[in-house]
Amino acid sequence: MKHKILVTGGLGYIGSHTVVELQQSGYEVVIVDNLSNSTIETLAGIERITGIKPRFENLDCLDYVGFDYIFERYEGIRAVIHFAASKAVGESVQKPIVYYRNNVNGLMNILDLMPIHNVKHILFSSSCTVYGQPDSLPVNEDSPTKPATSPYGNTKQICEEIIHDVIHSGASMSSIILRYFNPIGAHPSAEIGELPIGVPSNLVPFITQTANGLHPELKVYGNDYNTPDGSCIRDYINVVDLAKAHVISVNRMLEKEQREALEIFNIGTGKGVSVLGLIEVFEKVNQVKVPYSIVDRREGDIEQVWADATKANKILGWKARFSIEETLQSAWKWEQKLRQKKEA
Ligand code: NAD
Ligand code: WQD
Repeated sequence: MKHKILVTGGLGYIGSHTVVELQQSGYEVVIVDNLSNSTIETLAGIERITGIKPRFENLDCLDYVGFDYIFERYEGIRAVIHFAASKAVGESVQKPIVYYRNNVNGLMNILDLMPIHNVKHILFSSSCTVYGQPDSLPVNEDSPTKPATSPYGNTKQICEEIIHDVIHSGASMSSIILRYFNPIGAHPSAEIGELPIGVPSNLVPFITQTANGLHPELKVYGNDYNTPDGSCIRDYINVVDLAKAHVISVNRMLEKEQREALEIFNIGTGKGVSVLGLIEVFEKVNQVKVPYSIVDRREGDIEQVWADATKANKILGWKARFSIEETLQSAWKWEQKLRQKKEA
């Protein structure tokens, strides 16, 4: 029998890619999403890739009673992957309560309902943002977390602590927390990808839109950092590779292979790439120009961070497979597809 997995935020960027991988690995998926940052068309994209239309419920994770009913309706859910959250760092500074309510209360509802319905496993989406600017690089899971520089970042730290406390209380539950570095790219089929709403604040969607003529130029935030070319360094992880880490983590929880009831893994490539380096690779592999200029540093930016992903490599047996070249090709293919759709 197929195991049933509840995926909150399953129509979002990382969620949709994970649903594809789960279905391709034989899991039955139930998606809960309130479409606050996604569209229903993504469901068809998932179906075109996998041949399976996942069950979908348009519901807000803040709706406790509604969520209770979902667990009843889809009896036998074995694990929850909780992606649903608000994620725009800048917006979180403007609307902290919205972010704390959505990200923290959503998780608390789920943690509260899981034991009532005998659901014992939860996988949580965290972020390398919890490390701030690490004292040494690459950063591993034992590196200290730093005070968050935005309400969004703080919600990730608070949520991690809540999960820790629930597990520590002796709840009959296990959890894996994945700390993602910078997810980029799209499914190679270009059937699903990132849907930035409004002007993107993340680098890769801004690059692809600029290459497509939607913006006159990209602003590179600073070239006076203490890095080889002066621009910031990140660990850009392919979204399909990231999605696969979720499937492995779910297998691990269900197969009871966890060494501890709460495990934390960095999910990154282990390689740092600079902003200017990324632009160069993008232009080269896609044979397209990205006009850019150097401007002042962006407030709150970390100078450089990349993952020590040894723990995930060894314990999960997971490794990033896609090259940065392939990933940036997939991002460009997706951008072109998006524009075609908008023009049609
Ligand atoms: P996304 O916005 O594309 O997906 C989130 C999905 O959750 C959307 O479909 C949205 O409609 C839904 N959602 C939001 N609040 C909801 C609610 N209350 N009830 C039901 N659905 C709700 O974001 P993403 O990039 O796919 O991120 C997924 C998760 O990974 C988030 O928790 C995010 O914080 C985390 N994360 C993302 C990144 C990144 O750079 N994309 C990095 C680290 C961690
Ligand atoms: C990457 C680099 C910018 C845009 C954020 C969140 C983090 C995580 C991932 C969720 C930086 C530079 C960017 C532009 C630029 N999300 N840049 N011009 O800031 O590393 O991380 O997304 O958890 O929590 O903080 O990602 O893509 O915004 O920036 O020069 O127009 O690109 O300065 O060095 P970031 P990003």
